Amino acid sequence: MPEWLNALPKAELHLHLEGSLEPELLFALAERNRIALPWSDVEALRAAYAFNNLQEFLDLYYQGANVLRYEQDFYDLTWAYLLRCKEQNVIHVEPFFDPQTHTDRGIPFEVVLRGIQQALRDGEKQLGISHGLILSFLRHLPEEEAFKTLEQAMPFRDAFIGVGLDSSEKGFPPRLFERVFAKARSEGLHAVAHAGEEGPPEYIWEALDLLKIKRIDHGVRAIEDERLMQRIIDEQIPLTVCPLSNIKLCVFEHMSQHNILEMLERGVKVTVNSDDPAYFGGYVGENFAALHEHLGMTEDQARRLAQNSLDARLA
Ligand code: HPA
Ligand code: ZN
Repeated sequence: MPEWLNALPKAELHLHLEGSLEPELLFALAERNRIALPWSDVEALRAAYAFNNLQEFLDLYYQGANVLRYEQDFYDLTWAYLLRCKEQNVIHVEPFFDPQTHTDRGIPFEVVLRGIQQALRDGEKQLGISHGLILSFLRHLPEEEAFKTLEQAMPFRDAFIGVGLDSSEKGFPPRLFERVFAKARSEGLHAVAHAGEEGPPEYIWEALDLLKIKRIDHGVRAIEDERLMQRIIDEQIPLTVCPLSNIKLCVFEHMSQHNILEMLERGVKVTVNSDDPAYFGGYVGENFAALHEHLGMTEDQARRLAQNSLDARLA
């Protein structure tokens, strides 16, 4: 990566902590926790990272998360991510975590949260990286389950800046979560949601109008709806775009076809993020580098993208 790119101060606003679990750490945690894995070694696991769509990725991502059992595991996961941020001049992070992925396996909510929170605090003190944590609901599960998760989170209200919505998009529109998002907002939490990654522009409208989100996660399919484009430009609603993720999950066939710079030039407040860096081939820095290599991103465009990420912070 060019040094000027690495040196740009950036914020990362779309990162799933469970998606930053590198194969090496996954194997180390499996050994530490005496969990048998279906892959013979790290290379065999990496070879399985070939996806045709979001669901194929999610199946592996939830399987990988199974090695996370104890507070120290969540600490190690988060700390490893923050060290990568430090290397790439990511000075602020607003990561997601998926409590249901863990509580549904019998891991107590507070075990997950304490490990993550301690690493984030140490990251602030020792690495100078500020943060705001976002609790994300799994949309393939019923809204009732999301309500239970929000209830579990409320004793730790101050640990969060907001709620998100992730997992399988198609067939699980934002409108299914209108009530739980209203409840979260009534507690003073910000709302964000994945929309328009695989799902249609209609899901982005719903996320804006029904969930009253402050940022759209992905949102690249907004470009199919001119009226929606005008709205997100007029209201300067940030999009947390994840270029390498979109290629790995076949949202675009090749990086040279990605629409992020076209959106930027039209005045959309787009930002660059890594989504699930362990699975998609890189962190924020590698995502910027890919735009430079395949889309001819200029230094001026990189500066605007980095500035957008700082402007779009919720914390
Ligand atoms: N999309 C939806 N859900 C997710 C993703 C994603 O890219 N990563 C982790 N959960
Ligand atoms: Zn995501």
